[in-house]
Amino acid sequence: MSLKEHIDLQRLPQHVAIIMDGNGRWAKKQGRPRIFGHRNGVKAVREVSEAAAELGVEYLTLYAFSTENWNRPQLEITALMALLVETIRKEVSTLMDNNIRLSAIGDLQQLPGKTYAALQEGIDITKENDRMTLTLALNYSSRWEIVEAAKEAARAAQLGKIKMDDLDAATFAEFLATSTPDPELLIRTSGEHRISNFLLWQIAYAELYFTPVFWPEFRKKHFYEAIIDYQHRERRFGKISEQIV
Ligand code: FPP
Repeated sequence: MSLKEHIDLQRLPQHVAIIMDGNGRWAKKQGRPRIFGHRNGVKAVREVSEAAAELGVEYLTLYAFSTENWNRPQLEITALMALLVETIRKEVSTLMDNNIRLSAIGDLQQLPGKTYAALQEGIDITKENDRMTLTLALNYSSRWEIVEAAKEAARAAQLGKIKMDDLDAATFAEFLATSTPDPELLIRTSGEHRISNFLLWQIAYAELYFTPVFWPEFRKKHFYEAIIDYQHRERRFGKISEQIV
């Protein structure tokens, strides 16, 4: 029985989020520049997108660039932004072939013009696709998102569109950048056990899965392993075992 056949397709997470980590260390291990790691990370992005869509996962969100990543050496930032443009342009036809819709969250207006334009073009071309939504978190951080949502909610209250006292978790969530259901599974590669300002609100009940595999080496089988692990967890949402059907 193959690894994939161990997956119960009736109990798939609807939304998987991934912190792609370890590109730099993977490159360094072989005496290559960090961008070599990012370039090889693109293969993992392709594999995982394919694996998720083939299984029937409806939403896949990838942390591609955080607001803190601007602190990296300028050379790496420039190369990463160029790689994003190249990858989005090159992969649009694969997204179309696989009926995948491209989406993005983050402070996108602050991205370099070419990256922003390529992203918008990819989003526009794929907007009618409905098999899976692939969301890139770009110039994203969760605290930024929550602060922006708080400002929006305050503005809505000021304009009389909502009543301050009616604001609860569900209505607040409508002001967040994400319009997807919350991820049930969050994967982080490269052996780091951190969330790094990613989807803090949305992962309230997500299962966390950490793997030592560096992102450029992450393949379909690693994704299947994460899903199988998830399917062995008992999700209690604050209840006790006996209350779970
Ligand atoms: C983390 O590794 C990776 C990134 C910050 C960038 C991820 C980008 C790609 C995989 C390329 C293009 C992606 C898309 C979605 C088209 P790191 O640099 O933090 O590695 P380290 O922790 O070993 O230094």
